[in-house]
Amino acid sequence: MTIELTRPTADLFDSWAEAVAEFGDGHVDGSGLQAPVTPDRETLDELIERSTQLADTTVTPPDDLVHNDLYWIVDDGEVVGFLSFRHDLNDYLREVGGHIGYSVRESRRRRGYASAALRLGLERAREIGLERVLVTCDDDNVGSYRTIEGAAGVLQDVRDQSARGHAMVRRYWITL
Ligand SMILES: CC(C)(COP(=O)(O)OP(=O)(O)OC[C@H]1O[C@@H](n2cnc3c(N)ncnc32)[C@H](O)[C@@H]1OP(=O)(O)O)[C@@H](O)C(=O)NCCC(=O)NCCS
Repeated sequence: MTIELTRPTADLFDSWAEAVAEFGDGHVDGSGLQAPVTPDRETLDELIERSTQLADTTVTPPDDLVHNDLYWIVDDGEVVGFLSFRHDLNDYLREVGGHIGYSVRESRRRRGYASAALRLGLERAREIGLERVLVTCDDDNVGSYRTIEGAAGVLQDVRDQSARGHAMVRRYWITL
């Protein structure tokens, strides 16, 4: 496995569309998209424009948004998943979303992609000078908390986030 984190690009349109379609109507964590998604060219063009703007640290992000590096997890030219790295935390991210969110397409799970992608995301966080990173997941999301614990995440707490539309959420800190 030789995975890399790649910025959204029209060159991988077919593979991206296939990966997104695999999630059906479900939310695609770390993809920068709000479900339900129609993975067509227009959606991708808009995603590329928006993600390029949010990655530009010379421009203040609009509203309550923070600077964000959006990546596709790519293995040998195939989009196998998604990872989003937020440079800062706003109220929602501090409570629920964390610095890094990710997902792997169902047909590619249990092969180490999330673990490898998280390691690369942490390298990027170190690069921009963060000393620790918040990563969260639902309390019953075994695959995600094992991924986080495998990256030396230390559990801070598990809290009821039903007021924000989530169930019990675990918050982990990873020291860089
Ligand atoms: C969570 C998710 C990203 C894991 O991706 P993945 O590529 O399958 O994860 P990995 O192969 O790197 O596995 C990481 C660890 O989790 C374990 N794991 C993964 N899926 C698991 C599952 N369904 N049940 C139990 N353990 C699981 C692996 O065995 C591995 O543990 P180990 O390192 O102790 O051996 C993937 O299941 C997914 O996309 N889920 C839907 C979206 C989501 O929940 N995103 C996270 C939001 S916080």
